[in-house]
Amino acid sequence: MMTPSFKPLNPFAAEVTGIDLSKPLDVATVQMIEMAMDHHAVLVFRQQPLTQDQQIAFAKSFGPLDLGLRKLKGGPHRFDYAELADISNVTVDGEVADRLHAKIVGNVANQLWHSDSSFQNPRAKYSMLSAVVVPGFGGDTEFADLRMAYDSLPQWRKDQIEGLQAEHYALHSRFMLGDTNYTEDQKRSIAKAVWPLVQTDPRSGRKILFVGIHACEIQGMTLPEGRILIMDLLEHATQREFVYRHQWQVGDLVMWDNTATVHRGRYFDFDERRELRRATTEEKMAEV
Ligand code: OGA
Ligand code: MN
Repeated sequence: MMTPSFKPLNPFAAEVTGIDLSKPLDVATVQMIEMAMDHHAVLVFRQQPLTQDQQIAFAKSFGPLDLGLRKLKGGPHRFDYAELADISNVTVDGEVADRLHAKIVGNVANQLWHSDSSFQNPRAKYSMLSAVVVPGFGGDTEFADLRMAYDSLPQWRKDQIEGLQAEHYALHSRFMLGDTNYTEDQKRSIAKAVWPLVQTDPRSGRKILFVGIHACEIQGMTLPEGRILIMDLLEHATQREFVYRHQWQVGDLVMWDNTATVHRGRYFDFDERRELRRATTEEKMAEV
């Protein structure tokens, strides 16, 4: 057996070699990956194409799986598991979706900085995204470290936001994109999740600036004042020096910690096929 090794790609992303993700992982290896995630927050595994079964088994080593938006929307899908998120511009029939297809709005929404399922409680912990088909141009994914974002805030900002609570709502990013065709009943039936803006990671002890596009309101502030604060903080958190950009190759698997990072997809031509598959664990604790 090879010894796993972790090669830093930037201050918070690392490439992992020496672990075969298609095989069941022993407890020691799972713990080693978790510790690396505490340290780095994004891990890149190259040349590890996984079947759906293998991807589910790998993800389950880290805890119960999150259903994400499927919990809200249900509906048909093309995978063997409802727990696999279809991060693609492909319909259930396997065809590249027409630009007017609802699936494309989801692709566009993924190009806004977010943390997966932050609008739910429990929220997502680890996302494990596997590249199946990549376009000829574009379609990179970017990640920003929310711990570096907190650490680099000026003291007046740290003082200002300490103790503030943000409301996260699943449809907020959709509304921003003009995707507003929902009934009042639909809008009301989706509960918001509330998360402190400033959090402390229970494992690493590091402070985190927990913002993202799903944050739509700061409790105790007017909507405009809360929203400009969220926008300012997100702009701060996503400045280039806090960003790792992943250029996908088929068979790549990228694992990230949704409680310590935000991510976004980048432009690609929606007429070209792009297929990634994501499995996601739930955060264990309901309290932060
Ligand atoms: C995701 C996601 C962005 C992308 O898988 O959760 O937001 O580049 N992906 O497709
Ligand atoms: Mn995402």
